[in-house]
Amino acid sequence: MSFTLDDVGLTHGNGFCALSDICLSATQGEHIALIGPSGAGKTSLLTTLGTGHLPTRGHMTVLGQSVSMQPTARQLKALRSRIGTVHQAAPIPPRQRVVTAVLAGKLGQWPLYKALASLAYPQDIPGASKALARVQLEDKLFARCDQLSGGQLQRVGIARVLYQQAELILADEPVSALDPALSLATVQLLVQEAAARGATLVASLHAVDLALACFPRIIGLRHGRMVFDLPAPQVSQAQLQALYANDGPAQPLPTLQQTAPAMVMACR
Ligand SMILES: Nc1ncnc2c1ncn2[C@@H]1O[C@H](COP(=O)(O)OP(=O)(O)OP(=O)(O)O)[C@@H](O)[C@H]1O
Ligand SMILES: [Mg+2]
Repeated sequence: MSFTLDDVGLTHGNGFCALSDICLSATQGEHIALIGPSGAGKTSLLTTLGTGHLPTRGHMTVLGQSVSMQPTARQLKALRSRIGTVHQAAPIPPRQRVVTAVLAGKLGQWPLYKALASLAYPQDIPGASKALARVQLEDKLFARCDQLSGGQLQRVGIARVLYQQAELILADEPVSALDPALSLATVQLLVQEAAARGATLVASLHAVDLALACFPRIIGLRHGRMVFDLPAPQVSQAQLQALYANDGPAQPLPTLQQTAPAMVMACR
């Protein structure tokens, strides 16, 4: 198993319960999309899987490491070095060079002297360049991160995870800042890279059509609970409408872009 969550809950310090009764497991190499309205708990679940938050109830095992039994700092560090996270807004120091941001993917795997040296003198420029080429940013190798667009920064975050060669990739709205064509290409790249290396991929996506087209397993979250966990072809329009239902007038389902159905079909 890549991860197992058994009745997991997450209550924040202010008493807000962001996740309840999460029972979920994935075999190594599975590709899963998380969908659900804003505030449903997608980021909370991804952060919990990445051990950024530890469950406040239930039991969770990630990559063979039990996370609920008070893991040591050393165990957590070792586990986190095997997990790659793509954040919606990549937490990259603004003045940092792109090459350094990509190489940061392996800081947790390198010995301390090499990790520190890499901050001043990038240790594996060819490796960073290769990862950036996968997201069509090789020309930005020595650019400063604060001189990139939001979409370019997001792709730097993806290059970092590709470089890290993580066993578990957690992508939180990885294409929210990209245009439709690039969104599709980037999600396809993530799926292909994960498949090529047998990595498990869990991605939250606001574009439901992109999730259904590119991921075989779909989990719907609402109010911190799992509403469904189904193979993509079995997710019905009625379930999607219920997932995104609000108290106001009926809203159209969020999609990549109504004008791009042919591109989404290409992902199948
Ligand atoms: N650190 C925190 N402290 C208290 N409440 C939090 C914290 N982080 C998230 N929450 C709350 O938990 C709920 C779920 O938030 P989360 O960010 O997981 O939603 P989401 O599904 O990712 O939403 P979005 O689609 O807008 O990104 C929200 O109501 C949010 O306000
Ligand atoms: Mg979120």
